[in-house]
Amino acid sequence: MKILGIESSCDETAAAVVEDGRTVKSNIIASSLEEHKLYGGVVPEIASRRHAESISGVVKEALMQADCTMDDIDAIAVTFAPGLIGALLVGVNFAKGLAAAADKPLVPVHHLRSHIASNYLTSDLEPPFLCLIVSGGHSHIVAVNSYTDYEIIGKTRDDAAGEALDKAGRTMGLPYPGGISIDKISKTGNSDAYAFPHPKVDGAPFDFSFSGLKTSVINTVHNAEQKGERINIPDLAASFQKNVVDCLISNLEKVSEKFGYNKIVLAGGVSANSLLRSKSEQLCRKHNRKLYLPELKYCGDNAAMVASQGYYEYLAGVRAESSLNAYATMPIDIVNF
Ligand code: KG4
Ligand code: ZN
Repeated sequence: MKILGIESSCDETAAAVVEDGRTVKSNIIASSLEEHKLYGGVVPEIASRRHAESISGVVKEALMQADCTMDDIDAIAVTFAPGLIGALLVGVNFAKGLAAAADKPLVPVHHLRSHIASNYLTSDLEPPFLCLIVSGGHSHIVAVNSYTDYEIIGKTRDDAAGEALDKAGRTMGLPYPGGISIDKISKTGNSDAYAFPHPKVDGAPFDFSFSGLKTSVINTVHNAEQKGERINIPDLAASFQKNVVDCLISNLEKVSEKFGYNKIVLAGGVSANSLLRSKSEQLCRKHNRKLYLPELKYCGDNAAMVASQGYYEYLAGVRAESSLNAYATMPIDIVNF
C-alpha cells in the first residue's frame, strides 16, 4: 500500500511516498530555514507563504521520484496538528484538494506520532515501547502501547528541550537553530566549566522543567557582561547541553526502571543531538535495553514519517472528512481525532 505523506507544521514543506509504512520511495523537503535565520527564529507568516509557494512542486517531485502518479497512491496522509496554524493550514488544504480531485482517502496525522514513526522507516521496531520525544515544541516521555495508542508518562511543565536549547543558543550569540549550534560548538568545550541547576517538578518525578535553566544561562551571560568578564562560549554551551541531556536521561531512566520497558526509542529534532544519542546508548547498555534512534535524516521534520504513521492510522480506520481543520495544539494521546 502506497501512502503520500504531506508535512507543513513548521518551516519544512515536505512530501514523501512510503510503501506499507516502512519503505521510503521518495522523501522531498523544501526548507525556509535560511530565511528564518535572519530573524533568529521561525517567522510564522514567512513559513506559511513559503509553504504556499512550494507545496505543489514538492508533492509533484515526491511522486516523480517514487516513480508514481496519483493512480498508484492508496491514501494521502497529512499533518493536521500540532504546529504553526498558518503553516499547517497550507498542507491540510492542499491535501484536502488533492484527495477530492484524485478521489483518495485522507488520513489526519498527529505531528508527534509521526516523529515516533520515523523509527519505523529504518528498523523493525514494533510497539509496545517507551519513547522520549524531544522537539522544538514538545518534550514527552510516552508509552507507545500500539501504533495508535499512546500514554503520556512525563512531560515538560514549561519550555521544550529544543526551545530551551534554541533560546540559550540565542543568548550565547550562536546562529539559529541554537540546538544544532550548541551541539556543534560543545564538542570543543568543557562541560564541567559552568554549574546549572537540575530542576525537579514537585510531585511529578517524570516531568521536566527547562525554563529555569534557560533563565540561568541568561543570568550567567548578563552577570559576566556586567562584571566585564569574558564568557567561554564553547564551555558554556557544553555545560548547558550536558545539563539538558542529564535532565532528559535521568527521567527516562526512572521511567524505564519503574515500568520495565525493554525497548527505548528516541524521536524529534533534538534526538539528532550527539550527546543525547551517546548518553541514551550508555543508559540502554547499563540496563540491558534495546535502543532505537531515528536516522539523522529523519530526526527533523519530514513527510516520510507522516506517510509511515498515516499507514498505521489508515489500518486503524482513521479517516478525515472534507471539513478537516488544522490545530495549533493537540495532545498525542487523544483517542478520536
Ligand atoms: O522536530 P523538529 O524538527 O521540529 C519540531 O517539531 O519542533 O525539532 C526542532 C528542534 C529545534 O529546537 C532544534 O534546535 C532541535 O530540534 N535540534 C537539535 C539538533 N538538531 C535539531 N537540538 C540539539 N542537537 C541537535 N543536533
Ligand atoms: Zn517536528
